[in-house]
Amino acid sequence: MKTMQGAVLPGNSTVEFREYPVPEPGHGEVLVRTKSSTICGSDIRAIYREHVGKGPEGYQGVIAGHEPCGQIEAVGPGCRRFTPGDRVIVYHISGCGVCNDCRRGYMISCTSETWRRAYGWQRDGGMAPYILAEEKDLVLLPDELSYTDGAQVACGFGTVYEAIEKVGVCGADAVLVTGLGPVGLATLMLAKALGARELIGIDTVPGRLELAKKLGLVTYALPAGKDNVDEIREITGGAGVERAFDCSGADPARQTAIRATRKWGRIALVGEGGTVAFNPSPDIIHDQKTIYGSWVTSIWRMEELVERLVRWGIHPEELVTNRFTLERADDAYRLMAGGECGKVAVVFDEEVK
Ligand SMILES: NC(=O)c1ccc[n+]([C@@H]2O[C@H](COP(=O)([O-])OP(=O)(O)OC[C@H]3O[C@@H](n4cnc5c(N)ncnc54)[C@H](O)[C@@H]3O)[C@@H](O)[C@H]2O)c1
Ligand SMILES: [Zn+2]
Ligand SMILES: [Zn+2]
Repeated sequence: MKTMQGAVLPGNSTVEFREYPVPEPGHGEVLVRTKSSTICGSDIRAIYREHVGKGPEGYQGVIAGHEPCGQIEAVGPGCRRFTPGDRVIVYHISGCGVCNDCRRGYMISCTSETWRRAYGWQRDGGMAPYILAEEKDLVLLPDELSYTDGAQVACGFGTVYEAIEKVGVCGADAVLVTGLGPVGLATLMLAKALGARELIGIDTVPGRLELAKKLGLVTYALPAGKDNVDEIREITGGAGVERAFDCSGADPARQTAIRATRKWGRIALVGEGGTVAFNPSPDIIHDQKTIYGSWVTSIWRMEELVERLVRWGIHPEELVTNRFTLERADDAYRLMAGGECGKVAVVFDEEVK
């Protein structure tokens, strides 16, 4: 029996390797050879430091990694579309397929307690040389995109695209993003691709502000502070931005996103956890604003996103500042937890650069 090493997160800011059999694909399943597996802020927040997640975010001690991308090595009986050699992204939640949410393509919201299992949370994920996936969870990766581009679509870019499509962004808008981790940077990258020219980013970490500037993703990079709302009003002729996205999950940043948005504007909450305190009448009601919540995306929108990334000629992998091989997954998670980086990827084969 062929075996492989898979990385597990015990929840004490370390990575542990365990030996697993290389899986055999059963009916409707495929065996994917992992090429790139990126780390998401949710991995750090809910699993790496401590296992704090519940329900859909409850980590079951499986192989970690919910942003996998690779090439199909073998397909089980009954597969209908994909064949060995295909390059694929794994939409990171496997749903029951037959509840209302799954039928809408939002397996993230699958209501089946028995069948809803997310890769890297409740079933083995991408931090191993092979990943067993269900054919229905795959998105074909266009030839123009690299595996590291694709890995980021599996969660981060998919999530951001969904929020942007819900809220609507166009070239006329000034866009504010609070929290310039990989999710915030991805928001800026897609907002820019949609034509937005006034792009404002806020973070507490100077290195992240620098990175946003270096990547050309912001017109203004503001250190987080109590004057942010006034600063943004000044930049936008007194009115505030048309669209704001909180990608930090931090209360003060969410308040800034809400208050720095102009009348009739829209705000999306993407960063998870924590709380937010605002005053409904002056902050929302009297200014006719709308706050959206947005959770991951649907598989059809993910397919649409990869097509558009090619059309726009943009590459999510530009956000990757550090690549590690699997043996160094420990260093990869530690770096991401420290925040002095952009996106961090664990890579295999030709993605090792
Ligand atoms: N809604 C969804 O479907 C979805 C999907 C994926 C990730 N997420 C969430 O999105 C968030 C961002 O993910 P990430 O991978 O970029 O994580 P991250 O932790 O790298 O990014 C968060 C950023 O927010 C910054 N920040 C913290 N406090 C701040 C403040 N007061 N003002 C401004 N910035 C502040 C941090 O310095 C950091 O750069 C996380 O909460 C993650 O769980 C949500
Ligand atoms: Zn994620
Ligand atoms: Zn379902």
